[in-house]
Formats: sequence, structure tokens, C-alpha cells
Amino acid sequence: MENIEADVKNLNFYYGDNHVLKNNNLKIAKNKITALIGPSGCGKTTFLRCFNRMHDLYPNTRYEGEIILYPEEKNIISQEIDPIEVRMQISMVFQKPNPFPKSIYENVAYGLRVRGINKREMLDERVEKSLKSAVLWDEVKDLLDKPAFNLSGGQQQRLCIARALVTDPRILLFDEPTSALDPIATGRIEELMIKLKEEVTIIIVTHNMQQAARISDFTGFLYLGEIIEFSNTQQIFTVPKEKLTENYISGRFG
Ligand SMILES: Nc1ncnc2c1ncn2[C@@H]1O[C@H](COP(=O)(O)OP(=O)(O)OP(=O)(O)O)[C@@H](O)[C@H]1O
Ligand SMILES: [Mg+2]
Repeated sequence: MENIEADVKNLNFYYGDNHVLKNNNLKIAKNKITALIGPSGCGKTTFLRCFNRMHDLYPNTRYEGEIILYPEEKNIISQEIDPIEVRMQISMVFQKPNPFPKSIYENVAYGLRVRGINKREMLDERVEKSLKSAVLWDEVKDLLDKPAFNLSGGQQQRLCIARALVTDPRILLFDEPTSALDPIATGRIEELMIKLKEEVTIIIVTHNMQQAARISDFTGFLYLGEIIEFSNTQQIFTVPKEKLTENYISGRFG
């Protein structure tokens, strides 16, 4: 694997006594799309949420091991590292589009405002750039002051992507980003992700194996909290090494 963005080493995760992620090792390639697949409850969301320290928002959770970012070689799950600092670099897009009850403009500007950036020119420039990256600008450039809730579901999801991009993150996390969308809106988000990997590293959790096969470069199959197999996507979907992987991708369980 060429350029590594993040190296997951012996990652364990616990909700109280519930040991959900079990000693996982995985390398995330820079400017590629890595997909995590596996049956419901296997720990995909839990895995993804380690990357931006989301679990720190809830009591009684515990990480063990390391997620090392390169080239700094910084372990982002170390308790010495501020989760807010991590979230500036690693943003998340959720399953259901969740715009704030604000205008389109203010939704995107939000991440800058909370960091004390309020100069109009700067905001205008960054909001436009993010909306262009999210391929939404042409549709909304005359509606920037209108409520975000006026947009369609697919547009709202692209708005959430623009909001996530505004702080120039290095990794974007997607947790089933298209499961609430129709096939056309889904196709647009998939095209968008393929374009975005030029500027960011992407990790996506998806139930949709066709989606993983279509857009990802690498795929990890997770089962009962363990990465059973990790490889380039084509290999996983054509010649999986493990019987469990084969059973899952051929639809024998899930
Ligand atoms: N807050 C929590 N407290 C305790 N256990 C939890 C909590 N959240 C999730 N779990 C448990 O952790 C395991 C993994 O859950 P997770 O949500 O990561 O699975 P998933 O692979 O994302 O599933 P799905 O495909 O249904 O979204 C499950 O057994 C779940 O019950
Ligand atoms: Mg999940």
C-alpha cells in the first residue's frame, strides 16, 4: 500500500463491560476510499466513531490501542490528545441528512464560526469553495439565505458534506450516507465521493455491497467486532480468502 493516512493498531473498544471491537489492525490509504462492511451489530459504526473520538461524548466508553496519523505519527485516540482537535481534521457525515435549522449559507459556515472565523469575505470564499466541492453550488447559489430544510434529501446530504468539508479535513467518515436516499441521489453522492478522494481520505460504512464494490479501493469485512479480512476491493469481492467473507458477500447471512 502506497501512502498511508492512518494506521490502526491493536484497536479495542468497550461500551462499559461490552467489549465491541477486538484487537483490530488496519491501514487506511491516503486519498483512497476504504469501505467497512459486515452484518448489523458487528461494530462498523463503533469503528468509524473511534476515528473522530465521537465516543468521548458519552460516559463509560474506553479505547485501547492506537490510531496513528501519518506523517506526524500522532495517536489520535490517546487521552492526551484533545478530541476537538481531532474533529477539526476528521469530519463525519451521517446516515440521515441532518442540516441545522439555519440557512444554507450558515449551515456551511458553522464550522468556521465556532472556530471564531467571522470575517464576511473569508466566510463567503470558504462557503462557496465547499459548496462547489460538494457539487451543490450551482443548485443553491441563489438560495443561500433560504432554510436548508427547503432542499431535497439528496441536496441536504450534499449540504452536510459541504459543511464537513469547510474546515479542510484530511479524513471524511461516512456512516451509511445514502441509505435514506433514492437511487439517483445515491448515484450523485457516490460520484461525489469518487471526486472528493482527490482532496480527502474517505472511510465509508455501508450495508450495500454493490456500493462498496463500485466506489471503494479497499474493503474490510468486520464480523463480531473483528476485521476478518482486509484487502483491495476487487479481491474481496472476487476471490475472498476467508470462508466467512465469502458467505457474507454471497448473501448467505447478514
Ligand atoms: N451505546 C452503546 N452501549 C452499549 N453497547 C452498544 C452501544 N452502541 C452500540 N453498542 C453495541 O455494540 C455493537 C456494535 O454496534 P454498532 O452500532 O457499531 O454496529 P454496526 O455494525 O454499525 O450495526 P448496524 O449495521 O446495524 O448499524 C452492538 O452489539 C451494539 O449493541
Ligand atoms: Mg451502524
